[in-house]
Amino acid sequence: MRIFSGIQPTGRKHLGNYIGAITQYVALQEAGEAIICIVDLHATTVAYDPARLRSDLYDLAAVLLAAGLDPERCIFFRQSDVLEHAELQWLLMGSTAYGELTRMTQFKDKSAVQEFISAGIFSYPVLMAADILLYGTERVPVGDDQRQHIELTRDVAQRFNSRFGETFVVPEGVIPEVGARIMDLQNPEKKMSTTGGTPQGTVYVTDEPAAIIKKFKSAVTDSGREIRHADDKAGISNLLEILAVIRGTTVGRLEEEFAGAGYGDFKLAVGEAVVDYLAPVRERYTQLRADEDELEQVLATGADKARGVAAQTMTRVRRAMGVGPARAGR
Ligand code: AMP
Ligand code: TRP
Repeated sequence: MRIFSGIQPTGRKHLGNYIGAITQYVALQEAGEAIICIVDLHATTVAYDPARLRSDLYDLAAVLLAAGLDPERCIFFRQSDVLEHAELQWLLMGSTAYGELTRMTQFKDKSAVQEFISAGIFSYPVLMAADILLYGTERVPVGDDQRQHIELTRDVAQRFNSRFGETFVVPEGVIPEVGARIMDLQNPEKKMSTTGGTPQGTVYVTDEPAAIIKKFKSAVTDSGREIRHADDKAGISNLLEILAVIRGTTVGRLEEEFAGAGYGDFKLAVGEAVVDYLAPVRERYTQLRADEDELEQVLATGADKARGVAAQTMTRVRRAMGVGPARAGR
């Protein structure tokens, strides 16, 4: 089974990214042929600092490797190293409706806070579709906020296939039942996010243990006293989900375990579990981040492998669309 996912090299990665997406990438390496891509081209669609982008990219590469991505068992690469992504984006543009793109909630949210709304942020989902479709992807592990983008990818693939003949595999999203939407600890009605969240409510993968404990101790809960997953208990429900994923157990079992416990003790228990969970990642991260040449080497090897697959897809796409010479190759 072919698995593909992409992750942006902007902002420090937080516990939501880690639980909703990164743990899935690592687990799915065992389930099939996993391809994991750092999508730096996507990051250029909003205002950014070029030097910072490169440094963020190394940060993220080191976090992913520290989390357990194994370049021997998966294809791990940087999007901009494989030119076919940009080429396929353009070729898919003619099979994407303008109206579809205007309806994307991520576009609406992001463009609302940008002074300059680029054409790039508008066509962002088409580049994402290209990422996925280039590799004959069957499953796309993502968090809940990417649901709409996956639907668009499926629609574009189906539309292309019916216009030009069967070319693309129509992919499916893999969204975990628990942990696909980790909420801000200070504002549990909103998802944890580097750009839209609160500083105290966002737990970073590379945060110091003391900072993590402090954030969990001050997590916002509710005026009740029951540790139970419920719609009107957003804060407690979020903490239960975090702990369930980290311990590899169910929310139901945790509700039993913590029945009668106070909120303070429960928050501390979750904080301590997160510290233990992230400590080894942070340690490996620090070692890996120190050697940028080594990180470049890993990404270059991955890009070579990715190009091999992408080039084959592009030959079929060009042929189907009547672009380029009739014979294979460019
Ligand atoms: P990004 O950093 O936007 O590239 O997101 C990387 C991955 O993390 C995507 O699969 C997102 O769906 C996922 N993600 C982002 N925020 C959260 C969150 N608060 N909870 C769970 N997953 C998330
Ligand atoms: N849009 C995704 C996000 O913001 C990142 C992404 C880009 C992606 N290309 C992808 C995710 C392909 C899955 C598959 O998180």
